[in-house]
Amino acid sequence: MTFFTKDTKSAFEAITNAQFIAFAPIVFQATKSLRDLGILAMVEESGENGVTLEEIYPKLKLSEYGARVLLEAGLGIGLVIKNDHKYTITKTGLFILNDRMTRVNMDFTHDVCYEGMFTLTDSIKEGKPTGLKTLGEWPTIYEGLAHLPKPIQDSWFNFDHFYSDGSFDQALKQLFKHKPKHILDIGGNTGKFTTKCLNYDADVKMTMLDLPGQLAMAKENIAKTPFSDRVTYHPINILDDAQRFPKGADVIWMSQFLDCFSEDEIVSILKRCHEAIADGGSIYIMETFWDRQKFEPGAFSLQMTSLYFTNIANGNSQMYDSEVFNRLIDKAGFKVAEQIDNVGISHTIQICKKK
Ligand SMILES: C[S@@+](CC[C@H](N)C(=O)[O-])C[C@H]1O[C@@H](n2cnc3c(N)ncnc32)[C@H](O)[C@@H]1O
Repeated sequence: MTFFTKDTKSAFEAITNAQFIAFAPIVFQATKSLRDLGILAMVEESGENGVTLEEIYPKLKLSEYGARVLLEAGLGIGLVIKNDHKYTITKTGLFILNDRMTRVNMDFTHDVCYEGMFTLTDSIKEGKPTGLKTLGEWPTIYEGLAHLPKPIQDSWFNFDHFYSDGSFDQALKQLFKHKPKHILDIGGNTGKFTTKCLNYDADVKMTMLDLPGQLAMAKENIAKTPFSDRVTYHPINILDDAQRFPKGADVIWMSQFLDCFSEDEIVSILKRCHEAIADGGSIYIMETFWDRQKFEPGAFSLQMTSLYFTNIANGNSQMYDSEVFNRLIDKAGFKVAEQIDNVGISHTIQICKKK
């Protein structure tokens, strides 16, 4: 990784960046308003000719003042440019409007994180997800997931699924290279990956482990497929060390799961995997490590997502640096036998064996 090793900005670029940070919540809300009120879309539709303020505000039933302050903010943010009183869209504006990843990230930031983040400093001091109370009264977000109101729940699932969905097809190929017979999908969530496995291999049996609320959603989804008879469900609160995992599987699969836990909790989960899996079995871990990203914006997105875990999810987990994570794998009695980077947008698959 070559980024984050040098301070490459000039003093002028640095003070400019500092102002962007100083006004970041306003930049974010203004951008969202420009997107959601249809202003950016109208500027995009006007193409190279551009569109004037006077053409925009009546058509969108906004006041002249309201459209003007937002468009002027859009100039400063870099979403639009203005020539001869006409606004045209920039490349950044186009991404805000049309790029699916950007939309998923913005909706997640707004609906799930924005209000809570006001208390981030308290979360750091207390080691607790102090922002979670803006969504509901649960010890962690995972107990609340099945009960979140819309659009918050949609934004959470869209964020989670956007990243994992893009990696699942590549992951399936890796996972079925050695034709596993029985897979434990730990943290299987709404059953998307389990369903893909059942569809990929006509003989494989699946066992899903997750909290009861998520397993109820998974069961409902899998009932609509022809594969129900090859799935078993094992409701569990994995934070309870006394709850052991079912034995008999030759592969354990954990995707975007271990990042939901602290270092000690990860070691406890992996030790229970060690106990559950046969000696020749494999553990497949699919994670997003910020130090394994090809591009700086990928690492940036993960570093910011870590703070969602700090403030909203549970107060003690993160998108890990792979160096930290590998120490935990070792401590639990496993070695990484194979590592595949650049799976989907941002994932790494680690195939672990008992030491
Ligand atoms: C980020 S999601 C990952 C879902 C899925 N594997 C994927 O790749 O999209 C994490 C999953 O871990 C589950 N989980 C979190 N805390 C848990 C706990 N204490 N016990 C059992 N499952 C838990 C959540 O319910 C959720 O389904």
